[in-house]
Amino acid sequence: MLPPELSDRRSAISPLHEPVRGALYSPPVPQPWWKSAVIYQIYPRSFCDTTGDGVGDLEGIRRHLDHLEWLGVDALWLSPFFTSPMKDFGYDVADYCDVDPLFGTLADFDRLVEHCHARGMRLLIDWVPNHTSDQHPWFVESRSSRDNPKADWYWWRDGSPHVPPNNWVAAFTGEPAWTWDESRQQWYLHMFLAEQPDLNWWNPEVVEAMHTTLRFWLDRDVDGFRMDVVHLLGKDRALPDLPSDARRTNVAHDYPRTHELLRGIRKVLDGYPGDRMIVGEVYILDTARVATYYGRGDELHLAFNFPPLYAAWEADAWRAEVDRVVEEFDPRDAWPTWVLSNHDNPRHRSRYGSESRARAAAVLLLGLRGTPFLYAGEELGLEDALIPPEREVDPGGRDGCRAPLPWTRAPGHGWAVEEPWLPWPPQAAEHSAEAEREDQASMLHLYRRLLAARRGSSALRRGSFSWLEAPAGVLAFERRAGEERRLVLVNFEAAPAPAAVAEGLEVEVASDGAGEGRTFSGELGPDQAVVLRPAPGVAGGAAG
Ligand code: NOJ
Repeated sequence: MLPPELSDRRSAISPLHEPVRGALYSPPVPQPWWKSAVIYQIYPRSFCDTTGDGVGDLEGIRRHLDHLEWLGVDALWLSPFFTSPMKDFGYDVADYCDVDPLFGTLADFDRLVEHCHARGMRLLIDWVPNHTSDQHPWFVESRSSRDNPKADWYWWRDGSPHVPPNNWVAAFTGEPAWTWDESRQQWYLHMFLAEQPDLNWWNPEVVEAMHTTLRFWLDRDVDGFRMDVVHLLGKDRALPDLPSDARRTNVAHDYPRTHELLRGIRKVLDGYPGDRMIVGEVYILDTARVATYYGRGDELHLAFNFPPLYAAWEADAWRAEVDRVVEEFDPRDAWPTWVLSNHDNPRHRSRYGSESRARAAAVLLLGLRGTPFLYAGEELGLEDALIPPEREVDPGGRDGCRAPLPWTRAPGHGWAVEEPWLPWPPQAAEHSAEAEREDQASMLHLYRRLLAARRGSSALRRGSFSWLEAPAGVLAFERRAGEERRLVLVNFEAAPAPAAVAEGLEVEVASDGAGEGRTFSGELGPDQAVVLRPAPGVAGGAAG
């Protein structure tokens, strides 16, 4: 029985009269792998330490490929593992073509690629083109004089040592994005820390040198790159002041030259066989602008679109985000991406406030049309760690979501030390991969079932998307590929919701496991989400 306050709510899930915006299904022509892949982000420092220094390493990743294969992910993206002074934990690169000793060696990397490929998993790596470390030999040379061969590889400007050349501010600190350099008696630009000077991509030698770093890894057989803050590459050469309200949003840095540079980068990848791909971090919180970074199919293959990551856990907020993506991406034939958590933001398990919501969110993430990105540990339902002030290490305050992954119950949780570089997340033993793997009702098993459902359904992987009419607080949509279809229903509320559907639909996956394999009851539990499929023998259920 529904509580009385729900009884007058619209109770049926039904098609809207007009099939709402949403791409029409296109016949099954061969599709690139990354359109139907589930991509799993690894922050190498936090994955698993095998050497005893408290920091995760490449060998730690290789040893847990079993977990990832069992889970069912298609590709891994590794955050930076390159030589670095670690001021921004690897996003300050001092050598693009080597592995920092903290993480291992190039031989470890080659082994990891080989082992991923042997298991049918692809491997993407991070590429940080906007800035280097101030310890990179290019910057060391550039700052050594005003007339050395690399003098113009970074953004140097004259001026009074007391007045920065413009009003741009650096991320993390909110301070001027300029540092005065005593040796050159000039300012240099850094959109992040002072130890991360911005490269001058107007200089063709910089372009060529950075393309060479891409080729280095493509020759080592990586399947592609996640590219850091790519929207910042092509700066307006005049470096004009920005309107004050835009200074912190990055929107004002959306400049045409970037698109030209991305086309050049894309050509490098297109010169290689085997569907190599780019997913770009376009940190512009404006979906329409993000869509332009796909170019005419000649820039990014995929772009992260972050507004949904910042949306509240509310049906209306999410409906609006999905609508914006459909409106802006579909006309460009741009394939969407979906992200709930990453190494820069509080985990969604922490943001949304409960495990049941995080479970429902997983159903949404893996039910939407586009490529989902998982952040290591979300499959365990990890919360952010509480970081005591004396253990804070990140200048951007992002330590909580970078807590180490617990593999086993016992102290040390499968790491080579008991106390890694950051504290363990809450309830590390209960949320360890070992404990959750033994428990069919765990978050880990939910993710595995969702990934299996996607893998088994062309409707979920690459089918069309259309909203269904649903009660307040519920989002319902259909995914369809030819005759095959799936329905996804998500109750964002902490009260049960009526959700009668046409006869003959059974629960394929439920966020709480309830009723799986049985006919759907027509009611969603509090914070519950389900994937429904036509029951066996009913049209539309075929796997694909
Ligand atoms: C975005 C990365 O995700 C973040 O971790 C990093 O600090 C900045 N870019 C600077 O590279």
